[in-house]
Amino acid sequence: MQIPAAKIYFPEEDRKWVLEKVDEIMSTGQLTLGKYGREFEEKFASYVGTKYAIAVNSGTSALEIVLRAMDIAGSSVIVPTNTFVATPASVIHAGGEVIFADITDNLCLDPESVRQKIRKDTKGVIIVHIAGIVPPQIKEIQKICQENNLFLLEDAAHAQGSTLDGKKAGSFGVAAAFSFYPTKVITSGEGGMITTDDEKIHERALIFRDQGKAGFYSNVHTEIGYNWRMSEVHAVMGLSQFARLDEFIADRRRAAAIYDRELEKIEKLKRVEIPPAVKSNYYKYVAILETGIDRPSLKKEMKEKYSVGLSGEVYELPCHLQPIFKKLYNFTGGELDRAQASIESNRVIPALGRMFDRASDQRPDRRTRIDIEELLQRIEYEPDLDEALDAAPLEDLHKGLADRDAFFPGFLSCRLHLLFFNKSLF
Ligand SMILES: Cc1ncc(COP(=O)(O)O)c(C=O)c1O
Repeated sequence: MQIPAAKIYFPEEDRKWVLEKVDEIMSTGQLTLGKYGREFEEKFASYVGTKYAIAVNSGTSALEIVLRAMDIAGSSVIVPTNTFVATPASVIHAGGEVIFADITDNLCLDPESVRQKIRKDTKGVIIVHIAGIVPPQIKEIQKICQENNLFLLEDAAHAQGSTLDGKKAGSFGVAAAFSFYPTKVITSGEGGMITTDDEKIHERALIFRDQGKAGFYSNVHTEIGYNWRMSEVHAVMGLSQFARLDEFIADRRRAAAIYDRELEKIEKLKRVEIPPAVKSNYYKYVAILETGIDRPSLKKEMKEKYSVGLSGEVYELPCHLQPIFKKLYNFTGGELDRAQASIESNRVIPALGRMFDRASDQRPDRRTRIDIEELLQRIEYEPDLDEALDAAPLEDLHKGLADRDAFFPGFLSCRLHLLFFNKSLF
């Protein structure tokens, strides 16, 4: 059985519904900026608990639009170095300069580092809810922003439905940017959403989204915008997925609870602690490998021997060490210790994709079960994996396991991503 790194789930009834709507969209000719986009916006805003939501064509454009609405051109914005490249890139696209800041153990922005990095020209801070965790330190960062007259923008690309103290991701900053890229907890094919309570940001975002036009029927352009619109076809896909958001999260949380329980028994794999006030959507389940375990070898073996596709750590390389930012800002390494340690100590970040295969009640085959403890042991001590495997063929390996209280995270998909659970395991 193949365990892919990500799995998109559109059940048959949803596909039928989307197709009916697409048919209607084509027959009415209202292909973009229509009633389905507005419905998606209204439902999303009400879910997050903000006054407004603005549907756009990607998470990246959502970030850039907010940054433009905050007039950051010529100013600096603090961004955690541990994020997807779209976060700092959006600052540059909007005409600003990026100041990279460090992270804490939950892989999210470090308030102390933010304090140290504020400059005279700093206008705002972007916090990224890595892996779906709204980090508790966001409260301190909100305070720092208030004290220093900075705006706080949430990059909530990972965090649809996540909460801190019962408050939804997307309602903590002056605005937030969500992504509906296919790997995300819900997708619209491509797409993004801005949430905000700020009337001015809302107004300007609508203008930026549509080529800087003052209104849909107007030909007066008051800003340099772009084509950042979400089409109606994308909006209906988004609506159908949005209707399942809580269900998807519940599935992921059930699987994560099992990871929590079982990974605790594995010394070489440490999970990122999530305090009780935080309810993650488990966009990714984050685990960290002990130093000295070769991550590429582990990933290779998971793929080749167990058909578990692992990819997309969050993140393998901090942004300031990406060649483009090294070149732009002359980073040489060693500038942001904790983020750098996350690669140097060989941290591994497994996450859960779509965990429960509702379409199939198929039980996993024993060969898809993996004794991760044994695997880690072997990878550490036996560099020649093929030889090691020849010496201990899988079948033998599993013989003794039935009566051991061993964990078989063969189902761990995910993007370490080590592991993926299938419904049939439970
Ligand atoms: C943290 C983060 N920010 C921004 C983005 C950009 O979103 P999109 O791919 O929809 O432009 C992503 C998505 O992949 C992301 O993971």
